[in-house]
Parts: sequence; structure tokens; C-alpha cells
Amino acid sequence: MNAVGVFALMFIFGLYSADLPFSSAATIFSVLNYGAKADGKTDDSKAFSAAWKAACSATTQNPTVVVPSSRNFLVYPLIFNGPCKSSQISFQIIGTISSPSSPSVWSGHDISKWLTFNGVTGLLITGTGTIDSHGSGWWGQSCRDHPNLALSLISCKQSTISGIYFVNSAQEHLVIYLSNDILIKNMHITAPENSPNTDGIHIEASQNVLVNNSYIATGDDCVSIGDMTSNINISFVNCGPGHGVSVGSLGKNGNSVKVENIHVKRVNFKGSTNGARIKTWQVGLGYARKISFEHITLQSVQNPIYIDQNYCDIKGARGNCAQKSTGVHISEVTFNDIVGTSSTYVAINLNCSQSVACTGITMSSIQIKSDKSGQQVISKCTNAHGTNSGVVQPKSCLQS
Ligand SMILES: *[C@@H]1O[C@H](CO)[C@@H](O)[C@H](O)[C@H]1NC(C)=O
Ligand SMILES: *[C@@H]1O[C@H](CO)[C@@H](O)[C@H](O)[C@H]1NC(C)=O
Ligand SMILES: *[C@@H]1O[C@H](CO)[C@@H](O)[C@H](O)[C@H]1NC(C)=O
Repeated sequence: MNAVGVFALMFIFGLYSADLPFSSAATIFSVLNYGAKADGKTDDSKAFSAAWKAACSATTQNPTVVVPSSRNFLVYPLIFNGPCKSSQISFQIIGTISSPSSPSVWSGHDISKWLTFNGVTGLLITGTGTIDSHGSGWWGQSCRDHPNLALSLISCKQSTISGIYFVNSAQEHLVIYLSNDILIKNMHITAPENSPNTDGIHIEASQNVLVNNSYIATGDDCVSIGDMTSNINISFVNCGPGHGVSVGSLGKNGNSVKVENIHVKRVNFKGSTNGARIKTWQVGLGYARKISFEHITLQSVQNPIYIDQNYCDIKGARGNCAQKSTGVHISEVTFNDIVGTSSTYVAINLNCSQSVACTGITMSSIQIKSDKSGQQVISKCTNAHGTNSGVVQPKSCLQS
């Protein structure tokens, strides 16, 4: 048979389609074409791996792995490795990706992470689909036993994640680690208020990350920033319930921290335990500087503005930490245009260390009231130095 004949036969049998598996010219790699059952019960991990491998080795422009709509895909821990042949690769999630719900099912697997993209440049994760970790079975267990965060980007570059719904992770929902130039937008992340360690987004050892236009309501930080992180913008986020937007905790293991250029803008906190927070371990070294929180609204937030430079493991009888000679130097921090209500008496708490005081803090246009009528709120400062301008309510306690 000649080539035309072969082509005609392929056409008749419907084999010639853009998503023909194993073709290096394909651009669409649906997991269904790689054997996924999509019944929410069968393990579809192999199909996901195969679809990724094919897309990652495709030489076409923007090869795209597709997780189709109205289907539920059960997958075990998976690593999608780069680098890929194409300079851009997409992972489109329209259906639901589910993790096994019972912790016992995980024995024998690496439980530290569930879905991981490693070493990929030009990754685009998009769609209106859901990543459902079924984490509730883990929440009652001790922390050490449930480290399986939902999705991590490790050593990725020039990548975007947009539009995805995350629900009920066993721990963090999205972690950005050792990565550069990452855009995270239009995300929707939810877990119950009382679920432990279910941070929304954690960014660590990474540079140039923008988190924009997202809704995050979980049991821990909406967004947290870890050690060795710089040039991070967080904007247009609705946060709460949850523990607020936290720079930290930093320097946990007595290591030297380098954190700078962190800008948090246009975030609305609702019923969260913290608003703008910087938290460093007493044993930490190094610095956290050039941090700003601006155009923030607060609705019944427990600690609207909070610096805790005295964080420790072993607390004294009154829940306090003994003074140490070490500390992460916190400097050049701006709190500007922060308006709303506090659910506690101490609305501003700048608790800096005696040995490494906070310096260069500026406060302007702050108006925080109690969420209970007729009650006052106050600010408390310890070793916190800086300047105020314009209205600051409650009255600032910064030292010059
Ligand atoms: C963060 O915002 C500043 C301006 O406020 C901008 O210069 C910078 O490029 C932004 N960085 C990222 C990673 O979006
Ligand atoms: C961030 O989100 C806001 C609000 O939706 C939008 O106006 C702005 O263009 C977005 N910025 C970026 C860089 O995506
Ligand atoms: C500041 O931190 C120290 C050490 O943990 C603690 O004893 C103290 O109560 C804190 N002060 C405030 C006002 O939170």
C-alpha cells in the first residue's frame, strides 16, 4: 500500500487525530488516550505519567496535557520531570484530580508530596478544574505523618498557574520552591478553618513570584514566604479564614535568612487570625527587609498588624520565649493604608527582639477599630524603631 493508502485507512479508522498518542507531532495529550479510566476509583497515575512524558518530549509548540472535564481522576504521588523539548508546555486541568482519601493507602509511597513538577521551564498550568486532596483523614494525625502537600513546583522557571481550584490538602496546597519568574493567578483555595497546616500558597527559596487575584480560605496562612526568597508581590487576594499573609516563619534551624522585596498590596482579610504578619525564629540569623503591606482591609482580624521576632519552640510557663542573643534583623518595613476592624484589644503588636531590634518601620494611614462597639484597641511595641506619618489609629508606639 502506498502512503496515500495508509493515510486513507488511518482516516477511516479515525486514527488520524491531533491527539494520536505516541506521535511526536501531536499537540494535545489527553490522559484518556493514555489509558486513564477516570472513574475516581482506578489508579490513573500511569496514564498521567505517560501523557506527561509524551508531551514533554514532543517537539511541537506548546504541547498540552489535558485532564478532561466532568471526570474524576484518582492519582498517587507523581513527579512530572523536566526539562521538556518545547520551550512552553501546558497542563490543562478541567476535570477533577483526586488523591486517595485514606492515609493507609499511601504506605509504600513517598508521602511527602502528591503532585510535583520538577525542573520545568515554560510550564503553564491552567483550567477551571479541581485538585482535591481529600486531606481530612490526615488532619487528626501528628504533623510529621501528613506532609503530603498537594502541588509543588520545584526548580521551575517562567511558569504560570492560573484558575485552578484546590480543596482540602493534607498540608500546604501549593508550594513554590527553588523557582524563578512564577505567576500565580485567579486561584481558589479552600480547606476548613480548623484543618491544621493547610497553608494556601507557600513560597520558599524563590525569586520573582507574583500571586494575584485569588481567593484563599484555609486553616493556616493564606500565603507564606519562607527563607531565601525575594521579589515577591502578592496582590488582590481575599484571605480568610486562615492565618493571614505571613513573611515567615523565618530562620527555624538557626540558619542565615535572606528575604527582601516582599510587597503585599490590596489584600482583604476577613475573620483571619492575622493580617499583615512577619514572624522569625529567635535562633535565626540574617535579614528580612524591604517589606510592604499596603491598601489592606480588615474585618474582625485577631492580630491585624503583627511582628513576632521572638518565635521559639520551647516556651516558658506563660507561653513566652526566653530572650536570645540571635535573631533575624527586620528592617525597612512599611505599613500603609490599613483600614478595618480588630477582634482583639491589641491591634498592632510589634514584638521585636532585645538583641536585634526592628529598624526602619514606617506607618501611615492606619485606622483600625474594634469590631465590638464601644471598645478600644491599642498598639504595643517592643524594640521597634521607625517613624509615623499621617493618621495612625490606634496611636503608634514606634520608638525613634
Ligand atoms: C512587583 O511590583 C513592583 C512594583 O510595585 C514591580 O516593579 C515588580 O516588577 C513586581 N514584581 C513581580 C515579580 O511581579
Ligand atoms: C491582578 O488582578 C487585578 C484584579 O483582578 C487586575 O486588575 C490586574 O491586572 C492583575 N495584574 C496582573 C499582573 O495580572
Ligand atoms: C513578646 O514576645 C515575648 C517572647 O515570646 C513574650 O513573652 C511577650 O509576651 C510578647 N509580647 C507581646 C505584647 O505579645
